[in-house]
Amino acid sequence: MREVELGWGKVLLVKDNGEFHALGHKCPHYGAPLVKGVLSRGRVRCPWHGACFNIGTGDLEDFPGLDSLHKFQVKIEKEKVYVRASKQALQLQRRTKVMAKCISPSAGHSSSTNVLIVGAGAAGLVCAETLRQEGFSDRIVLCTLDRHLPYDRPKLSKSLDAQPEQLALRPKEFFRAYGIEVLTEAQVVTVDVRNKKVVFKDGFKLEYSKLLLAPGSSPKMLSCKGKEVENVFTIRTPEDANRVVRLARGRNAVVVGAGFLGMEVAAYLTEKAHSVSVVELEETPFRRFLGERVGRALMKMFENNRVKFYMQTEVSELRAQEGKLKEVVLKSSKVVRADVCVVGIGAVPATGFLRQSSINLDSRGFIPVNKMMQTNVPGVFAAGDAVTFPLAWRNNRKVNIPHWQMAHAQGRVAAQNMLAQEAEISTVPYLWTAMFGKSLRYAGNRWPGQGRGQVRLGVWLRCVRSAEVELGS
Ligand SMILES: Cc1cc2nc3c(=O)[nH]c(=O)nc-3n(C[C@H](O)[C@H](O)[C@H](O)COP(=O)(O)OP(=O)(O)OC[C@H]3O[C@@H](n4cnc5c(N)ncnc54)[C@H](O)[C@@H]3O)c2cc1C
Ligand code: FES
Repeated sequence: MREVELGWGKVLLVKDNGEFHALGHKCPHYGAPLVKGVLSRGRVRCPWHGACFNIGTGDLEDFPGLDSLHKFQVKIEKEKVYVRASKQALQLQRRTKVMAKCISPSAGHSSSTNVLIVGAGAAGLVCAETLRQEGFSDRIVLCTLDRHLPYDRPKLSKSLDAQPEQLALRPKEFFRAYGIEVLTEAQVVTVDVRNKKVVFKDGFKLEYSKLLLAPGSSPKMLSCKGKEVENVFTIRTPEDANRVVRLARGRNAVVVGAGFLGMEVAAYLTEKAHSVSVVELEETPFRRFLGERVGRALMKMFENNRVKFYMQTEVSELRAQEGKLKEVVLKSSKVVRADVCVVGIGAVPATGFLRQSSINLDSRGFIPVNKMMQTNVPGVFAAGDAVTFPLAWRNNRKVNIPHWQMAHAQGRVAAQNMLAQEAEISTVPYLWTAMFGKSLRYAGNRWPGQGRGQVRLGVWLRCVRSAEVELGS
């Protein structure tokens, strides 16, 4: 692979099996230079988060991200390679696949829809877009608790200052153009699968023919004394993230939980807050995922950036002054000054509204689905953080994998099966995180009983993601 300058921009020139292909050179997800990725079996893998593009068509074939690459004309004459590309395509560096538009006369004002998608996160949006890419022209309604159109949730903890419009995955005009209706601040409270109908909190009822459940998860909150004091947050929305930075500026911030989310927030706040402290039950951050050695190395990096750790302890009380957080009291009796506290201690599936329906939930509240993302109820699909699904290369053991990339992949499979295309989920789980300008990527899945070192980084990622084709899983 080689980057070639064409005057108005670059292309990625690929020679594979003696054939030349010219494609957009930047990954449409976050703009990684694809020349640094991996070329394998007719696909190029992005070096940053593993999105995958077909070199014959430029189509996005594995996630994350929504758009594909432009494919340019190539001709060979007298041992020279000529590439023909439009200025616009070179400058844009991304291609939205051709999509159907909605031609349903009932769109926008009827109390029934062909497809209803509960959840406008990664899984819900990809499901809606895939339906349109596959030519589906009936009504699609997406609903969300948020007041915003679908946005890039992983950025919330990496760039807490970002405004909702900077995080949007698609502009308003996109939804209008393709007739994807988004109902914001619209909470589904019950699902009646017998009559194929959902009821919203405000009493509005909507009938559906096909239903996708993609409600994601809800963050766990502290249950200690003082849990109701002001300025204690979980990070789920741009509003949460923006308020945390505002309150932390020049003051004392405490992060509870040294998982990916908590550590990203702690890293971001070091440049803004007077002090940043992390409270964690385990002895080392990330130990469960990355093992002791990697965890210790990361902890050192944080300490070098002025982050103070309180390990193997938990919060026993949040103390306030005039209703606002002032101190975090730990079980170890230590009292930490705090003006703002971010809680990142995990999440539970946001499936409470399904309890009275006949859609199966497991003991932890996840929606079990098969490889086609079908629930136990015909016509009802589920995808994303709220599901457990059979992971092919773990002997089809049912797992929950709450990753951005996985939610995209499952949303796509659900859409394909709504259209009876018999697709199965077969992507390799992939997660990334970024702290102090360093990025850490992890592919695969850790299973119970696995010790340290079972999930490897960097090079391992490349092997697994390119081996995926060979293994067929
Ligand atoms: C701060 C943060 C940072 C993250 N960083 C990363 C990362 O770096 N890399 C990574 O791989 N993953 C990351 N994740 C995880 C990733 O965001 C999730 O895996 C992904 O968003 C899951 O997509 P989803 O579509 O299942 O759910 P979500 O994106 O959570 O969307 C759920 C949707 O359902 C709606 N909803 C819920 N209940 C109802 C209801 N009753 N009625 C109507 N609508 C409802 C919500 O409003 C929302 O629109 C992060 C998550 C968070 C919170
Ligand atoms: S920049 Fe390519 S997958 Fe994220």
